[in-house]
Amino acid sequence: MCGIVAYIGQQEAYPILIEGLKRLEYRGYDSAGVALLNENNELNVYKAKGKVSDLEAFASSKDVSGHIGIAHTRWATHGEPNQVNAHPHVSQSGNIALIHNGIIENYLSIRKELEKRGFTFKSSTDTEVLTNLIEDVQQSEHVDLFEAVRIALNHVVGAYAIVVLEKGHPDQLIAARKGSPMVIGIGDGEYFIASDATPIVGRTQKVVYLEDEQVVKIKLGEELHIKTIQDVEAMPYVQELKMNLDSIEKAGFDHFMMKEIYEQPTIVRDTMRGRLNPEANTVRLGGIQQYEKQLLYADNIVFVACGTSWHACLVGSYLIENLAKIPVKVEYASEFRYRNPVITPHDVVIAVSQSGETADTLAAIQLAKEKGAVVLGICNVIGSSISRATDAGIYTHAGPEIGVASTKAFTSQVTVMVMLALRLAELKGSMKDEERAAFIQELDRIPEKMQWTLDHSGHVKDIAEKYKDVRNMLYLGRLQNYPVALEGALKLKEISYIHAEGYPAAEMKHGPIALIDKDMPVVFIATNHSTYEKVISNIQEVKARNGKIIAIISQKDVLARKMADYVIEIPETECLYSPLLALAYHIAVMRGCNVDQPRNLAKSVTVE
Ligand code: F6R
Repeated sequence: MCGIVAYIGQQEAYPILIEGLKRLEYRGYDSAGVALLNENNELNVYKAKGKVSDLEAFASSKDVSGHIGIAHTRWATHGEPNQVNAHPHVSQSGNIALIHNGIIENYLSIRKELEKRGFTFKSSTDTEVLTNLIEDVQQSEHVDLFEAVRIALNHVVGAYAIVVLEKGHPDQLIAARKGSPMVIGIGDGEYFIASDATPIVGRTQKVVYLEDEQVVKIKLGEELHIKTIQDVEAMPYVQELKMNLDSIEKAGFDHFMMKEIYEQPTIVRDTMRGRLNPEANTVRLGGIQQYEKQLLYADNIVFVACGTSWHACLVGSYLIENLAKIPVKVEYASEFRYRNPVITPHDVVIAVSQSGETADTLAAIQLAKEKGAVVLGICNVIGSSISRATDAGIYTHAGPEIGVASTKAFTSQVTVMVMLALRLAELKGSMKDEERAAFIQELDRIPEKMQWTLDHSGHVKDIAEKYKDVRNMLYLGRLQNYPVALEGALKLKEISYIHAEGYPAAEMKHGPIALIDKDMPVVFIATNHSTYEKVISNIQEVKARNGKIIAIISQKDVLARKMADYVIEIPETECLYSPLLALAYHIAVMRGCNVDQPRNLAKSVTVE
């Protein structure tokens, strides 16, 4: 939720901030703003409802000079998305400007206190309250901004990544974080601060990830000065940023989503690199090696995740139980954290998250730790909160995912799930060697087969054209195709706003069958595996009620092909996710929807 970016150095800040905001726009895009301190010590604040391009248009004839500035793109939590509620917020005296990602939970009680002390508020945001709280501390305690921010944050309950700029201090920014991410890029005589590394890529490779409850003074000509909010000094840990510019640009595609769909074969290779050894028929997962015994003897492996990542967990549960014979539970992190689950030190909890910042998943990790379980992570973003909160983990290596709807990240998560199941099966001795070897060989061929599927999916656009105006759609599959059906339905609803549901195919007759008529398209995932015959019966049931059938089938299929109105072929394997993505994508484009930034959504859900 929300993207923050800040700059201090010798260059003009404004173009750097705007470019940074555009790269962060996937985090929120209902309003944007910028604050700049010019050479005459004037603080210029410009805000606009809408996207970063609206802010640019608004500021086009204004003074945007200055070598220091802060900027924000918002996903509203407190107060409607409008110009007044947009960040940066300025303190009552006009001396301090602040940007914030997160939620201050006790802002109402602080606001009441500040009102008693003479402060008035223009917006309905928690952020303006925090800005004035810092000013109040500064004035009443007679301390500098660094100290005022530190003291003020001790009064705050909630999550924050903030950057604060002060008039009269053109060489200094103060930043802090708790529960919301923040990275500081160290350039040559300049600093870049952002919610994630994307605005920093191509500018410097030296970065520091701020830890929870740390405050930092970023001053030109000085080293970073980091303290905890409890006033304990901390050393900055400088790391090398491995991302490159290509990975965050569209590379000729109309949308990031399409680019990311086409990246799947490459990222599956990247996810397997150094882990899958098809010569020796082995899988090695270095990140969790020291916890393999716990996994093997766990009473339960418990997956916690949200949304698409939850679907990947469901695939994981089918695979691990089937191949490694270890009991697996799959939990929505948001339910798990509140339902007082039975978790013991004999369980291993695995948190799965693309962004590594999802608030519910972080809370679930915390709970599992309190209950004494080992907690592992499967995460895409290196250095993210979840990767740091877990005891150990496996990175998915999908690269930055900019499209708000998750695509390649799911594919990489499923790839990790397959490798994890195979590794556990090897340790447990639950699969015959030749059976496991065949699985590993097949996994190694998946990128090629995915490429084939992408190369032969042109006609998905025609199917999309046919069904782009429907109001409902059903997705049905069995076994591990069931989570894929859920995921296909989620993709369609989130980017094209068509209502869609995913079900295990056999559940259809327990209710959803009542919906079937000539206007209801049903997507069947009818690839060739153990329940194929049963899925064929389900197709017949839909056909008998005049439903329209789109079937994802294996190349050699005969039966489903005859019954379906449209088919999408895939090679004899399980790489069936891409056609569903392509279908959702084309329908959304044809309906004129914003594919990369669907309404009401944000890439990183750092609030409950
Ligand atoms: C859907 C989507 C979301 C996320 C969910 C969890 O396309 O992207 O459902 O999967 O918000 O996010 P992460 O994986 O970042 O924890």
